[in-house]
This record gives sequence, C-alpha cells and structure tokens, in this order.
Amino acid sequence: MAVFDFAPLLTAGLPAPSARWTGLAKYSFVGGNNDADGVPVDELRAAADAVLAREGRSLATYGLAHGPQGYRPLREFLTAKLSRDSGIRVGADDIMIVSGSLQALDLVNQALLTRGDTVIVEQDNYQGTLTRLARLGVKAIGIPLDQDGMRMDALAATLADLRDRGIRPKYIYTIPTVQNPTGTIMPESRRAELLWLSRAYGVPVFEDDCYADLTWDGKRPRAIHGMSEYGGVIHIGSFSKSVAPALRVGFLVAPWQIMSVLLALKTDAGSGALEQMVLAEYCKPHFATHVPQLVRGLRAKLDTLLEALNAEFGTAAEFAAPKGGIFLWVKLPDQVDAMKLSQAALKRGVSINPGPEWSTDAAHSRSRLRLCFASPTHQEIREGIAVLAEVCREEFGVPVRSANVQRAEAGSPGRR
Ligand SMILES: Cc1ncc(COP(=O)(O)O)c(C=O)c1O
Repeated sequence: MAVFDFAPLLTAGLPAPSARWTGLAKYSFVGGNNDADGVPVDELRAAADAVLAREGRSLATYGLAHGPQGYRPLREFLTAKLSRDSGIRVGADDIMIVSGSLQALDLVNQALLTRGDTVIVEQDNYQGTLTRLARLGVKAIGIPLDQDGMRMDALAATLADLRDRGIRPKYIYTIPTVQNPTGTIMPESRRAELLWLSRAYGVPVFEDDCYADLTWDGKRPRAIHGMSEYGGVIHIGSFSKSVAPALRVGFLVAPWQIMSVLLALKTDAGSGALEQMVLAEYCKPHFATHVPQLVRGLRAKLDTLLEALNAEFGTAAEFAAPKGGIFLWVKLPDQVDAMKLSQAALKRGVSINPGPEWSTDAAHSRSRLRLCFASPTHQEIREGIAVLAEVCREEFGVPVRSANVQRAEAGSPGRR
C-alpha cells in the first residue's frame, strides 16, 4: 500500500521525532511523577460531584465565562495560599491559570526570547527548561549551585562579564525552593542578593516554584516574587507536585505589562475547565491537610531510597539529602558514564535520568544521575536500586561491594 510521505512538508528546525510509547520501566525512577498513594482520589471524586452539580452548566461557555485567566474560585484560592505560604500578595486578577507550568515556560519564552539570546540558569537544572532553550537557539549560561542553591558570587561574576561584553541576558531562571535536581532551598538572604543583582543589572528573575509545597518541615522562605519591590519577577507554580501532574494545572503571577502579552499568546481558548473546577472545590477545604500527609509519604520513600543506596552502592554513591521534593541527585565514581548506565539499566527494567540531560555542564554531570523516589513503591525502590547497582558494577566495576556482599570485579565471567 502506498504511504503518504509527510517528510517533504515538515518545517525546518523541528525536534527529533518522538519514539512510540512503550510503557514505563518496571522500576521507574524517571520524570516528575508523584506517589499514586498520595492522590486524594475520594476527595477529588466528591469535589467533582459537588462542583458539577452546582456549576456544570457553565461548561457550555469557553473559559466558564470567567475570562482567559482561568476559573475565578481557583485564582481566589491561590491568592490566599500565595499570601499565606509564599509572601506573595496579589489579587485574583494578577494570576493566570495555565495548562501545567510547562505552558507558562513556553509562554514566557515565546514573549521574551529570540534565537541568539542569552539567559542565566542554574547549572544543574530541569531538563524541560534546558531542552526548550536549546530548541529556541538560546544560550543558557549555567551558574553552579552549592547547598543553598544558585551561587551569588558566580552569578555576580557572570552578570558583570556579560555586561562587559555588551550582553543583557533576558532572564535569570531559578528553582529556588527545592531545586530540581539538587533538592536545595535558597535562603531568604540569598534571595535578597539575587533581587539586588537582578535590579542592578536590569535582568528579571523567572522563579519556578513548583516544588515549594513539598519541604520536609512544611516551612519555606518567602518567594522571590514576594520579596521583590520593583516588579521584576515572573513567578510560576503548579498543582502537579502537590496534587497530581496529570491534571495539568499550573499558574503564573506577573505584572500586567507582561501578563497581558502572555494572555495574547495563550491561544488555546482556556486551560481545561473541569480540572480547575475540581481543584478549587477540593483545595479550599483539603489542601492544607493533604500536603503534610503527602510529604510524610515522600519522606518515607526518600528514607527507603537512601537505605537502598547505602546498602547497594555503599560509599560509591554520594549525595546530599534533599530538603524536600521527589528527587535525589546522586554522584557516582568518575569512571561511571551516566548516559551509558541509563541505557544498560533500561535493558534490565530500570529507568533513571542521566545527569548530562539535567545540566548545562557535561563534565560535571557525567557521573551523576537523578532518581525520582515518589512514584516507585518502597519495594520497587529496594529492588530497582539492587538491579541498578548490579548493572553499574557489570559495566563500570563499581560498586565493588553491595548489600554487604563482595562481588567479583567487572568483566569477571562468574558475574555474568
Ligand atoms: C522545575 C520544573 N518546572 C516545571 C515543571 C513542569 O510542571 P507542570 O506539570 O506544572 O507542567 C516541572 C516538572 O517536573 C519541573 O520540575
């Protein structure tokens, strides 16, 4: 049968085509997936029932007749939540609901970036941000992190250097509260320094706060947006990590000058209304009690992961325990090529995110990997890490010992 050929019609500069979905690995440590046991299914069902009974007829109108910024009760919930938790004092009209914070990333990039531009980002970073920038032909300069997040001495030096070269970066993108992938939290004093630099150099801050609800002690510094007095911060957040990522509901807070441009660029006739309605109905009575419960479950899974890594990798795996969230950023010995490890592990049913896909610095991230501990069960974490250690030993000779058992060196026929 003749097959129509679309290839000659495709535009230039497209990303590589996707592979067909073949399902999740048996032991999946990838992506920003959450804990299935943490989804408040019964309460969401009740919320859906209640809100549909009361307001279901409004689905007949695009945007529920609440305008392009989204379902108003959800924006009102966010107004109260942002003020209470993040120190962001804005009204419902300063908030825009988006289809996951990824849409906010796209809209902001579309509004601000052109090919050849420069932006500043944290060196170890969210792959979704890095791939977007690469695709747009934008140069992302990575600033190294320490235990308190983006290093301000390095940021100051980079800003000064760029200014000397006549380059004004379009934004400083940061994930200050439970950074992805390092799990650090930037203290308030450093946020103040960041704001000072942002203002001094005339470069706005793009604050991605999607993990901010998931700190182990429930405390977080004020959002950079909340500390800013000059309006140079775009803040985005999400319900993906606190309730469920498949809902695809995020939000953006920005001054009207930029919000009005983003609204003009958001040409999807509104984000999914049912999700917004159900979330608003659910969150008002339940969010404050749901989150600590979710976080307790995540913390227990992190403990299982740390135990499994200690048992299987011993001192070969180095890491700083994250201050919250769903990821652990692990450093393996230098001989480990994380890209190769991820491919070999996948063949054995274990998926991991290799460091080079999560960093602007290939050498620094070569032997690093990111593990999501939220979605696998405790048993899957234990079994998956045991398989990962075995694959790593076979491929790279480390760890030499695991689970208190001395293993043969890599390449030894006895092990294969
Ligand atoms: C830092 C960061 N920003 C944005 C996103 C996208 O989140 P959403 O599901 O809200 O689109 C993620 C998802 O993992 C993330 O880690």
